[in-house]
Amino acid sequence: MRKVILAHRYHEEAVAALNREFDLVIADGKNGGLRACLNRHPDAEGLISFLSDPVDAAAISAMKKLKIIANFAVGYNNIDIGRALELNVLVTHTPDVLTRATADLAMALILAASRRLVEGDALVRAGEFQGWQAGLLLGRELSGAILGIVGMGRIGLATALRARAFGMKVIYYSRSAKPRIEKKYGFARVTFLELIRSADVVSLHLPYSPSVHHLFSHDVFALMKKDAIFINTARGQLMDEEALAGALERNELFGAGLDVYENEPAVNARLKKLKNTVLLPHLGSATESTRRQMAMMTVQAVRQALSGRKPRHLVPEWKERLKK
Ligand code: DGY
Repeated sequence: MRKVILAHRYHEEAVAALNREFDLVIADGKNGGLRACLNRHPDAEGLISFLSDPVDAAAISAMKKLKIIANFAVGYNNIDIGRALELNVLVTHTPDVLTRATADLAMALILAASRRLVEGDALVRAGEFQGWQAGLLLGRELSGAILGIVGMGRIGLATALRARAFGMKVIYYSRSAKPRIEKKYGFARVTFLELIRSADVVSLHLPYSPSVHHLFSHDVFALMKKDAIFINTARGQLMDEEALAGALERNELFGAGLDVYENEPAVNARLKKLKNTVLLPHLGSATESTRRQMAMMTVQAVRQALSGRKPRHLVPEWKERLKK
């Protein structure tokens, strides 16, 4: 049987399928985690990786029989794609199935940050609720506010559509124009500068690459409206956390809702001290049915690759390569 490594135990239906079809090895945190497991099994032909484990050039090079890395996430910045392409190792991800769950979470963060839900919950639990008060925890109105979507991909669009139902006006920044989206929904494409200067809520939906490292820097936060809200459900490395903490501490922003962090699982201590932050533990795709579908997609990808077929959800770099 062909050997497949699974970075962590996940949905049991997927584990059962992998066990039936392959010689499955599950990397176990107690035994040194994925890195040690890869060292012990350099003959594995398939790897199912998680966004929390880097799969770098050295790891890919050491696995001489590796044919596929199936990433259990839509973002795949944990994998050295350049090296995988060089060595002809296929790389797949899990687009589409997590779009709705992630957009729901972005919308939940927009609501939580604008209406101060976490502060309200803490106040009630602390026994400090003294009855209705005219000025208690006043938040920001979404209806009529401008939502700036940075990265109008699948999740950006799904978030925009949810926000539209709350009466928000949507503008977006994207490297390429989306004429069909503009025509169908009336969302206007603007420059990055226009977006950060005019949006009441900025929601980040870009994939991470070094070219957009710290896209949200001190200077960018300084250009945002004084009462704006910053939402990040994409990748932590897209923002300079220290700069964000500074802007929030100085009340240069109304608040922030974050699901991702620069150095996960570490979370910036200054952000944790602030009341105007809502901080979630990377839950974007965390619903039972989404995680099940993501897991089954990785099984399907490994199955296809190891039987010589082209996996359906190759990452864009691999799709480009196959077009040539
Ligand atoms: C992904 O799949 O890239 C998301 O960050 C998971 O929540």
